[in-house]
Amino acid sequence: MSTFTLNGKEVPFEAGETIMQAAWRAGIEIPHYCWHPGLSIAANCRMCLVHIESGRQMAMPIVKWDEKKKAYVPDTKPKLTPACQQTAAEGMVISSESAEVKQAQSAVQELLLLNHPVDCPICDQAGECKLQDYYYEHQSTAKRKLTEPVHKPKGVRFGPTIVYDAERCIMCTRCIRVCDELAGDPVLDMRERGNRNEITVAQGRELDHRYTLMTEHVCPVGALTSKDFRFKARVWFLKSQEGVCSGCATGCNTHVDFDPRYGKVYRLRPRDNMDVNKFWMCDDGMMTYRRQSEDRVLAATIGRGEARVPAFGDEPVARAAQQLGAVTSNKIGVVLSAQHSNEDNYALAQLAKKLGTTKLYLAGLDAEREGWVADAILRSADPNPNTAGARLAAGGALDETTEDLLQDILGGEVEAVIALGAASLENLAELEALTKLDAVVSLTSHVGALPATASVVLPVASVFETHGTFVNAKGMSQAFRRAVTAQAGIEPGWKTVADLARAMGHDLALGGLQDIRSKLAKTAAESVAASGAEARA
Ligand code: SF4
Ligand code: SF4
Ligand code: FES
Repeated sequence: MSTFTLNGKEVPFEAGETIMQAAWRAGIEIPHYCWHPGLSIAANCRMCLVHIESGRQMAMPIVKWDEKKKAYVPDTKPKLTPACQQTAAEGMVISSESAEVKQAQSAVQELLLLNHPVDCPICDQAGECKLQDYYYEHQSTAKRKLTEPVHKPKGVRFGPTIVYDAERCIMCTRCIRVCDELAGDPVLDMRERGNRNEITVAQGRELDHRYTLMTEHVCPVGALTSKDFRFKARVWFLKSQEGVCSGCATGCNTHVDFDPRYGKVYRLRPRDNMDVNKFWMCDDGMMTYRRQSEDRVLAATIGRGEARVPAFGDEPVARAAQQLGAVTSNKIGVVLSAQHSNEDNYALAQLAKKLGTTKLYLAGLDAEREGWVADAILRSADPNPNTAGARLAAGGALDETTEDLLQDILGGEVEAVIALGAASLENLAELEALTKLDAVVSLTSHVGALPATASVVLPVASVFETHGTFVNAKGMSQAFRRAVTAQAGIEPGWKTVADLARAMGHDLALGGLQDIRSKLAKTAAESVAASGAEARA
């Protein structure tokens, strides 16, 4: 591989790569604002200027203050080059730390801050603002302009999700490029020039496509803020955990930002994964964090309708086991969930095996009923994160749906039900047949049509409260980690299934998570071998 030297270090690069790209891949940061690895090159901020020391040096005429003469005198300095735009070449010797470069970085910072309101204490971006970071790193001098700064529009509503503050904007155009290049909707543009320019929304339009939150995410300063997150939390109080979006079968990788003091999730941000979501997420996916606190089931209940009462300790699991025990076990219908992890589904499939029932069904959200729209960018046609994983956990094909379950109940083949998850294709009226059964046990983190029909509801941990894996539409198995702790007494689904199995006289011998995962891998290999299909990584 070809290399160049950056600040004395060898940096490998591939043909056609820029200096910035190669340095970024090597984990070296050249200060930048407008460059983003997933967007086209604008080269308008000039923060990434570097000195290419090798080859012919171009000198730039300048004037310099001469202390003795007390006047500006003509001089020259090396012409610096934007690293984001310059293609790397074999043997280049580059500095991003020379005196000239440092001076250029400081000058760019000073220019950007001339009219900036410097309202950092109330700015939502404080703590993760490139202007703040680079100011301390590359300028740290007091403002020389003492006159009133240029004032521009503040708190401008760009659309249902985004607010714009033109005074903080550094005109890097990242937001424009996200709309043009990612969302394919050129709804943002720039108007005016110099210190009067600002970002605008196309006439008669709003910023309202399905990737608007990405415009806020790529904004390096506090000019764009998300209506949902602004003024909710200070980022230095937040911790982050690795997650996988549960919004659809694409399985975009996420950072789950939460406040450990309150055990509260505040936002999701995309986590780079070139094979899945590159640098992006869709708006609906970013908002799935709300499911952590909305419509939760936090206590076990026994009974239906008005007779439904909370239950505590071992009682709800014992009652569930007792109700299920009154039915011939091969007449128990077991509903896996395309919304739950492989581990939860695997445990339930094992319980079905122990019970000797082959009546397995799969419940999940329906795209049409949810008004879910897929696209050719990220959004998968399936609004469930783990349809493939649930099928795998069941040992292969799992084509029966909750509609089939209803038929089997009406036909008398199913006399009791154990169901994982809240999601189902039907609404409560359509699931009425379940309410006629004496034993419907629902293991769920959220309210929904399935739990509403249950004779016993057992709460389980949400995706933010447990470790787990999803298999996405491409067949890739992706792990997510627990961000917040579940309320006392609430366990991951697979543990609750194991408790239920124990109360019914069966030992699932699940061990821990690692044990389940190795058993799952074996099940997957067996079902692939049985179907003769080709395995995917
Ligand atoms: S709003 Fe943010 S992303 Fe858009 S041009 Fe201004 S600083 Fe850049
Ligand atoms: S495309 Fe799907 S997985 Fe990705 S962020 Fe959107 S909803 Fe989540
Ligand atoms: S990052 Fe190169 S000019 Fe902006």
